[in-house]
Amino acid sequence: MEHTQYRKNKPNLTAAQQDQITAAAQILREGGTVAFPTETVYGLGADVTNPDAINKIYQIKKRPIDHPLIVHIGDVSHLDTWAQAIPDSAWQLASHFWPGPLTLILQRSSRIPDSVTGGQDTVGLRIPAHPVALALLDALGPEKALAAPSANRFGRISPTTAAHVQEELGAAVDMILDGGACEVGLESTIISFHDQSPQILRPGGITLFALESVMDSPVMLAHNISQAIRTSGSLPAHYAPATPLKIYSTKHLWDRTLALAAQGSRVLVMTWSDIGQSQPSDQSIQHFSMPADPITYGQQLYAKLRQFDQAAFDYMIVEAPPDHPSWLAITDRLQRASHNPFDNKQN
Ligand code: TXA
Ligand code: MG
Repeated sequence: MEHTQYRKNKPNLTAAQQDQITAAAQILREGGTVAFPTETVYGLGADVTNPDAINKIYQIKKRPIDHPLIVHIGDVSHLDTWAQAIPDSAWQLASHFWPGPLTLILQRSSRIPDSVTGGQDTVGLRIPAHPVALALLDALGPEKALAAPSANRFGRISPTTAAHVQEELGAAVDMILDGGACEVGLESTIISFHDQSPQILRPGGITLFALESVMDSPVMLAHNISQAIRTSGSLPAHYAPATPLKIYSTKHLWDRTLALAAQGSRVLVMTWSDIGQSQPSDQSIQHFSMPADPITYGQQLYAKLRQFDQAAFDYMIVEAPPDHPSWLAITDRLQRASHNPFDNKQN
């Protein structure tokens, strides 16, 4: 991804979009909430310096108050307004990847209220790479920043279009800015710093390869992430459709699907590999082919899960993604959405 292109794109907003952004900034200054597009997913934004506005986010999302919010800023030069004791490696990552799908967990400054961080002394910060989000942050000015989690109810699938936000949160939000479909489609990569060295807390839009290409030392996956991806166990249901979602290896995909269909279940099957072409003929099975590359797969995943969730299937069966680092974010989200934490050996 070319990170400077978003800055260049900024002046391309229409006059109508500019008017909407001015109105949105006013709502935010008055303590309201605005859903806005980012390159990853849509965010539900409020003025970070206004605890009453922050509380509205938790109420609308039905999110437990100890779950900290990501804070969106407009420029790298604002970073030390909101964070302190910033490690060199964080500056390095920020200057390389921002605007972009990378969130840095840093020691918070006194400007960040407790309600934003769930009382923790760290804060997650990023600059979103979307012209509408950047224009909104510009309109708010350097004294403000936008606390914004994904604009969905807690635990559900993140929205990647304005229509998704409308469906899910509707009138609860004061305004929804429409910036089209999100380019990345999965949430940002979250990095924390332990003894100055970066660790991935959540795989996302910036891959491990991309991170390592700018760091001198290897970037680690935080222990709980690698465990969640490599082993089965009790994972929190998150990013989840209401329809039970199961992940099976390419080898066992059709066996398991036919077994469910034989019990009278209506099954949606999502594949990425050639196995999709050998679909058994069975009225109760519907097959959907996803792209075989992780970028386009990631762009489409949430919209497809939402669409199929509304189609009254008894199960969604998903082919396990390739065991390759470029699929890490997808594997992570599918695992969390699934009712059978995937284990390569057993499924
Ligand atoms: O791409 C994204 O990151 C999107 C867009 C809107 O920017 N936002 C997003 O926010 O995914 P949310 O709230 O749905 O997920 C934020 C994640 C949570 O898992 C939260 O625990 C973690 O970030 N997080 C936030 N602040 C943190 C902190 N201080 N320490 C550790 N984790 C933190
Ligand atoms: Mg979320």
